[in-house]
Amino acid sequence: MTDRPDDVPRPPEKDAGAEPAISLRGLTKTFGDFTAVDGIDLDVPRGQIFGFLGPNGSGKTTTIRMLTGTLRPRAGTARVLGVDVVRHPDRVKRRIGYMSQKFALFEDMTVDENLRFYAGVYDLPAERFAAQREYVLRMADLVGREDELTRNLSVGWRQRLALGAATIHSPELLFLDEPTSGVDPVARRQFWDLLYDLASRGVTLFVTTHYMDEAAHCNRLAFIYRGRIIADGSPSEIRSEHMDQRILDISTPDVDAVLPWLEAADDVQEAYLSGASLHAVVAADSPLTPAALTGRLAAAGFARPDVVEVPATIEDVFVNLVARHR
Ligand SMILES: Nc1ncnc2c1ncn2[C@@H]1O[C@H](COP(=O)(O)OP(=O)(O)OP(=O)(O)O)[C@@H](O)[C@H]1O
Ligand SMILES: [Mg+2]
Repeated sequence: MTDRPDDVPRPPEKDAGAEPAISLRGLTKTFGDFTAVDGIDLDVPRGQIFGFLGPNGSGKTTTIRMLTGTLRPRAGTARVLGVDVVRHPDRVKRRIGYMSQKFALFEDMTVDENLRFYAGVYDLPAERFAAQREYVLRMADLVGREDELTRNLSVGWRQRLALGAATIHSPELLFLDEPTSGVDPVARRQFWDLLYDLASRGVTLFVTTHYMDEAAHCNRLAFIYRGRIIADGSPSEIRSEHMDQRILDISTPDVDAVLPWLEAADDVQEAYLSGASLHAVVAADSPLTPAALTGRLAAAGFARPDVVEVPATIEDVFVNLVARHR
């Protein structure tokens, strides 16, 4: 990890007494008669990594677009960095960064040209740009590749460059909409190291992701489903508040056949693929033990079932919350 040069302005220090980075009340967006975001309330503390999770079409990007002042809500209030972003979007635009889901970089421009473009958007003075450019190139590990065409970079490098471009003006608050989508696990880890580094400098990060392992890296989370927040809190608060069932993890070479068998079992509430194994959710007071389930699977003719009880992951909580709200 490289150090930020001292002449580059730093974001303000964390201040426990300060107003939250984001504060939403009743925020609503409709498209025609469809409600994409349905009266959400949310407080995002400063200097933390906040994970905004939800399935496809649940309203994540629509929410971010309202918070960055690019989409007008139908109703409700949105305060961003203490400013009413609906009334005064221009007062916050320079203080925030946005790495969008669909478009972040010009593929036909070089690394350097992309950084220059974003610096231009924020009217960065030449000396500040020079310092920030150097910091970003080192951060993204792109020193020596300044003149390379962006489309020739692998997805992992491109996402790091996009992060650099979104932070070229040292924003206090950064919105990242599925920044690691399509990125391999090693590059995802490196990307998260960069996010931790930004957070340690006091930057607030608002991140959407589909990767449940990334949810566990966040200080706080909110789940949005069909435009409504169905859970929020720290990962451990969410686990303890929303998951009182037990999870049985089943390893079997017969995943395709065992899954429908589990779904049909009376004492299994939910069954789904989790990594390479299956998870079966049973009531907290269910007498079903791993040994008993192993016996039933073997008796049903499945080869080599191996069942253990495991603690609920954030993914388990999420799958069950969605199932309950469906
Ligand atoms: N401009 C628009 N006009 C009409 N409907 C829209 C518009 N933008 C979004 N929607 C709808 O609003 C809902 C929420 O969309 P949104 O893009 O916010 O979801 P998302 O949670 O970001 O999904 P994904 O994970 O796929 O990115 C979807 O049903 C989408 O089709
Ligand atoms: Mg989206």
